[in-house]
Formats: sequence, C-alpha cells, structure tokens
Amino acid sequence: MSELDQLMAVMEAAFDPHWREAWTRQQVENSLAMPHTYAILLDAEGEPIAGTNIAAGFILAKRAPGEEEMLLIGVRPELRGRGLGRKLIETFARLALDGGAESIFLEMRANNPAETLYRECGFEPIGRRVDYYRTADGTRLDAITFARKL
Ligand SMILES: CC(C)(COP(=O)(O)OP(=O)(O)OC[C@H]1O[C@@H](n2cnc3c(N)ncnc32)[C@H](O)[C@@H]1OP(=O)(O)O)[C@@H](O)C(=O)NCCC(=O)NCCS
Repeated sequence: MSELDQLMAVMEAAFDPHWREAWTRQQVENSLAMPHTYAILLDAEGEPIAGTNIAAGFILAKRAPGEEEMLLIGVRPELRGRGLGRKLIETFARLALDGGAESIFLEMRANNPAETLYRECGFEPIGRRVDYYRTADGTRLDAITFARKL
C-alpha cells in the first residue's frame, strides 16, 4: 500500500464524520505533493511503517521556517489509549527540532477530547478563532490554536 493509501485507511477509521475534520483523499494527495508537507505513519507497535505493516496512526505535518504545524492526527479506534497518539506527537516534535524548528503548533475544534493529550504533551493554548468550524448539523465551534516550544 502507498503512503497515501495507508494514511487514508486510518483517516476513514479514525474520524467521526459529525465533526467534519477529516480530509478527503484529494486534499491529502494535494497537500503531500507540496514540498513542505509530510506524513508520519506508525504501526500498532509504534514503529515506522515498513514492508507490509498496516498503519495504526498518522500525523500530517507542515514545515515553515522556524516552526512546524501538525495538520491532522489520527489513531485507529481499536488501538487508542496505548500511547500511540503521544508517540506520534513526540516523533513529530523530534523531527521538527532536528529540522531546526523552535516551536510546533496545532489547531483544534473547541470540544475535542484530544485536548488532554495535547496538554500532556506540553502544548498550551495561544489563540482562538470564533465559530471557525461547522459540524454536520450546522453547529459552529471555535478553533483553538496550541503551541509548544521545542
Ligand atoms: C486524539 C487521538 C489521536 C489520540 O490517540 P491515542 O493513541 O488514543 O492517544 P494516547 O493513547 O497517546 O492518549 C494519551 C492521552 O490522551 C487522552 N485522550 C486521547 N484521546 C482521548 C479521548 N478520545 N477521550 C479522552 N481522552 C483522550 C487521554 O488522557 C490519554 O491519557 P491516558 O493514556 O493517560 O489516559 C485519537 O483519539 C483519535 O484518533 N481521535 C480521532 C481523531 C481526532 O480527533 N484527531 C484530533 C484532531 S486532528
């Protein structure tokens, strides 16, 4: 399976359509075609995908001078709560640091339970965009920007 196939398989399993956070295959493909966007894929053991291993989780990330942004994170529902999300974030943080970044960012809908994980990983809220997201039933939700210094 290609990197794109692996990532999309996790995306489809991990994201509840209600929140409308998931990206389409076309959006991910376009984004990975850009030089500054990349994916991290880990298997169920938390190891980088190799050979025929099936991806358990992914991060889609974007580099900019001095900083990197986590665009999306997802872990298969049946493999949650084992530290894979944390491992993905720490892998991302290390890659960003090695690439010369001083901070990492992410943006999250206001009621996402992943906030606990982000705070445990050292992210702190730095901004809020009012009514940025719209759920499948039309409810509007703020976006919160989190940052972590590396
Ligand atoms: C967010 C997500 C990637 C976390 O993956 P994970 O592998 O379960 O993460 P971890 O096992 O490392 O979780 C560590 C901590 O995060 C918290 N946490 C993560 N997801 C949570 C959830 N859905 N509800 C409550 N707490 C959660 C827990 O406090 C957990 O700490 P603990 O293990 O000490 O209890 C996963 O829940 C997911 O794919 N969610 C759907 C997609 C999504 O919303 N992505 C974020 C927006 S892009």
